[in-house]
Amino acid sequence: MIEKRPAWSSQFAFILAAIGSAVGLGNIWRFPYIMGKNGGAVFLFVYLLLIFFICSIPLLAELVHGKYTQKSVLDAFGQVNSKLKIFGWFDIATSVMISSFYFVVGGWIIFYILKSFSFSGITDFGGYFNNFVASPIYSVVFTIAFLFACIFFVYRGVNKGIEVANKIMMPLFGVLLIVLVCVSLSLPNASVGLEFMFKPDFSKFTPSMILEALGQALFTLSIGMGAILTYGSYLKKDDSILKSAYSIIIADTIFAILAGIMIFPAVFSFGMEPNSGAGLVFITLPKIFTQMPFGNLVSFGFFVLLFFAALTSGISIVEVTVSAFIDTYKMSRHKAAIIMFLMVALLAIPVSLSFGLLSSATIFGKTLFDFFDYITANLFMPLNSLAICFVVGWLLKVANDYVFKNRFMHELFLFMCRFVLPILFVLLIVTGLR
Ligand code: TRP
Repeated sequence: MIEKRPAWSSQFAFILAAIGSAVGLGNIWRFPYIMGKNGGAVFLFVYLLLIFFICSIPLLAELVHGKYTQKSVLDAFGQVNSKLKIFGWFDIATSVMISSFYFVVGGWIIFYILKSFSFSGITDFGGYFNNFVASPIYSVVFTIAFLFACIFFVYRGVNKGIEVANKIMMPLFGVLLIVLVCVSLSLPNASVGLEFMFKPDFSKFTPSMILEALGQALFTLSIGMGAILTYGSYLKKDDSILKSAYSIIIADTIFAILAGIMIFPAVFSFGMEPNSGAGLVFITLPKIFTQMPFGNLVSFGFFVLLFFAALTSGISIVEVTVSAFIDTYKMSRHKAAIIMFLMVALLAIPVSLSFGLLSSATIFGKTLFDFFDYITANLFMPLNSLAICFVVGWLLKVANDYVFKNRFMHELFLFMCRFVLPILFVLLIVTGLR
C-alpha cells in the first residue's frame, strides 16, 4: 500500500531537520580552518555577506521548488518539464556519490567513539589512523554500520524517523558543543587559538578566497543535491520559507564558529599545527585528548558530537533518493530504503577500501574516495544548484507567492536566480575543475 505523502509535524521540526542536514563535517573540520587560513575576521565578514545575501538565494530556490511542487527531486523537475527530469537524476546520483565517501568518514567516527577510552597508551596517532583505515574489514564494517544508522531513521519515515532523530540529536549536539567550547577555552593560552581564527589579516583578501568562501557556504547549507528541496516538499501551506531559510543560515553559522572555538584554542594550547579534515579530527585532536585531564571523556564527547552532526546530515542525503523512489515509482518507503541501502553499500564498500586494498584503483589519478569528493563538490553540486536557480528563476514563476510578497524584492530575487548565481556557479565549476 502506498502511504500518504508525509508532512513535518511543525515548522520547528522542519527547521531542526534542515539545520541537522546543514550542520555536518563541513562545519567542524572545514570551516574553522578555512577561516583561520584566509585572514580570520576578514574571511568571516566576506563569508557572512555571501551566505546571507548570495547563498540564501539557491537555498530559498530549493525550498520554493520543493514546497510548490510537494514532490521529491524527479517529479519536482519532471513537473516543470519532462526533459528536466535529468536534473532529478543528477540529484540522485549526487546523493549516492556523496553518501559513498561521507559515510566512510561516518564509519571512522563510530570506530573512534568505541576506541575513545583506550587511546591512553597511543603516541603515534598518524600511524594508528593509517593502519585503521587500511584495514579492509574495519573499513567496510564501520561504513556499513553508519549507512545502516542513516537508513534506519529514513526507513521509519519522516515523522517517526527523521524528526525524532533530529529532535534528539540536535539538542544533544548543541549541549556537547557548548561543554567542549568551555573545556577548550579553559586551557592555558586559549587566546592564541582565538587569535588564529579571528584576527583580521587584510593581506589575505583575494578573489580566490571569495570563491573558497562561496564554495564552503554552499556546501555547508547542503545546497545542490536536492536535500533541501526534498525537506521543503514536506512543508505545509502556512510554513514560512523565508523565516526557515534564515534560521538555517544563522544556526549553521553559529555552529561553525563555535566548532572553531572548540577546536583551535585546544590545538594551540598543546602546541600543535592547525589543519583541517581527517588529519585534524582523527590524528591531531586524539593526540591532544590523551594529554588532557579527563581526556578519554572529552574524546568520547567529541566523537559523539561528530557522529550526531554527520548522522543528521547523512539522513538527509539518503532521504533525497528514498523520497524520489517513493513518489515516482510508487514504492513503499521500506522498499525504497532497502534499495538505497544496497545502492550506497555497492559504492561505499569500494570507496571505503581506498586507503588499503584499493589504494591503487584510481580515476584521473585520484583514489575512489578523493574522486567522489572532488567530482561532487566541483561539478555536480554547482551544476545542480545552477539547475535549481534556472528553473525557479525562468520557469516556475511562483516565487512571489512563496518568498517575497514585495515586488522589488521579488524582482531582485528573480534577477539573482537568472543571472548572478548562474555566473557564480559556472565560475565555481571552471575554477574547481582545473
Ligand atoms: N552540509 C553538510 C556539511 O556541512 C554536508 C553536505 C553537503 C550535505 N551536501 C549535503 C549533507 C547534502 C546533506 C545533504 O557537512
